[in-house]
Amino acid sequence: MARPDSQLLPLGDFKPSDEWQTHVNAIFYGIKGPEIHHHFQTYVSRDYRLAHALADTFLEEVRKQRLADDTITIQEWGVGNGNLAARFLSRLKSVDAAVYSHIHYTLCDYSEEILNGVRVNPNLQEHEGRYFLKQVNAETQDDFEPHSVHKIISNEIWDDLATSVLLQNNGMLYEEFLQPLLQRNIPNVPWESFVEQFAGKDLDALKKNPPFLEQIVWERSFQRIDISDWPYGTFILKHLDRLADEIPIPINTGAFQTLERAKQLLAENNLGYTSFDYGMLSDHELNLPGRPYYKLYGGQYTSMVNFPLIAEVGKAIGFADVQLEHQHDFVGRNLSENVLSALELVQVHPRISRMEPWDADLLMLQTLQALNASYRSPYKGQMDYPPMPGTPKKQRKQITELARNLSATGVPDTVAYITESEVAESTGRLKKLGYGERDLKNAFDRSTQPIAFGHMTLR
Ligand SMILES: C[S@@+](CC[C@H](N)C(=O)[O-])C[C@H]1O[C@@H](n2cnc3c(N)ncnc32)[C@H](O)[C@@H]1O
Repeated sequence: MARPDSQLLPLGDFKPSDEWQTHVNAIFYGIKGPEIHHHFQTYVSRDYRLAHALADTFLEEVRKQRLADDTITIQEWGVGNGNLAARFLSRLKSVDAAVYSHIHYTLCDYSEEILNGVRVNPNLQEHEGRYFLKQVNAETQDDFEPHSVHKIISNEIWDDLATSVLLQNNGMLYEEFLQPLLQRNIPNVPWESFVEQFAGKDLDALKKNPPFLEQIVWERSFQRIDISDWPYGTFILKHLDRLADEIPIPINTGAFQTLERAKQLLAENNLGYTSFDYGMLSDHELNLPGRPYYKLYGGQYTSMVNFPLIAEVGKAIGFADVQLEHQHDFVGRNLSENVLSALELVQVHPRISRMEPWDADLLMLQTLQALNASYRSPYKGQMDYPPMPGTPKKQRKQITELARNLSATGVPDTVAYITESEVAESTGRLKKLGYGERDLKNAFDRSTQPIAFGHMTLR
């Protein structure tokens, strides 16, 4: 029988998913700051290739629009550790110092803790005078002059923002409600005080408790709903008409708000709002039964992005041109090669699905080492790869040793892009690790995964 002190108790009532999602994420970013990257990496948090592709495309457009004589204002929304800005600016500086000298890049984030981390990022400090920080909420801010920004960028923010989840069945519509539950013995203050701290997002008080976010259990229920008075309700209903019953459909209402903000902020001669994120790229993926619609990372609550609906709402908001493609195609085009991430490469190893997690970690490190024999990053950095809790002593030692010996100019991350020729050059070494030649070739074929990384630009 469970001890009464380990009993799961509610931290609040059932509420629509978007309300609890944004509540818990504000606490996650407010408490953790740059520590978020102990829970997840993104394609920009250590790697540089997506940032370079973005910088190169930006430069082409700046030249086309002849913006280079005036100040060029860029805003990035939801900035994490600031690495995207650092690598974007470095690329501009090395390719076109004149354009670089006109850049005014503002890193915007709603978490002061995150911005504190950005302030001490040495790679960004190299660009002093070109970048600025601002604490603002991307969904609601109106801190800037209308029509004053040339380019807006965000990476993996839409999935964090308010998202309702709808499900249809026989002509009826249901909305997902959530309730957070926690074991009563986790907080180090009386339960009632903790619930008050949690409800009031009292970050200073919550920080003094043992880690609790990753221990939250989410109870779910679906309730009948009429959405005719929701913003964009008619667009959402039309969208749902094309989709199957009984499949939860994320409605990224926070992303819609960022589009409204972007439309208001972008200057007449703008280069658009470019957003990278992950989710369903077409109706086909939206209609796949059983596909994920949310994911938890160390307590952060993310929703899959419904790109087709965002594109439809974007047009309704007044963006005449909405482009969507697979993010890998964008980076691949920039490098004139097919690309995939190191993590995706490891997934094609014939034994991966049967491996213990620490053996998969060892394979990842050995794979990086094999690639590093030919891979050269233009930036130096040491990858942090601590063994996960529960790793046996022998593997712990091997992981620590392998991580310490990784080249400082090698593949910068597990979520870093690698090209087909880099894999080809390492084929001999990869085969020694058990990869099959055919697996290595097939790894670059676009698989039909329900969730993919997308690149959307709205103008
Ligand atoms: C998943 S992280 C991504 C960070 C970075 N763009 C990257 O890709 O590594 C999301 C970031 O968005 C910020 N964020 C989340 N909701 C926000 C909001 N409503 N307004 C502004 N920033 C927000 C978080 O503080 C965090 O820095």
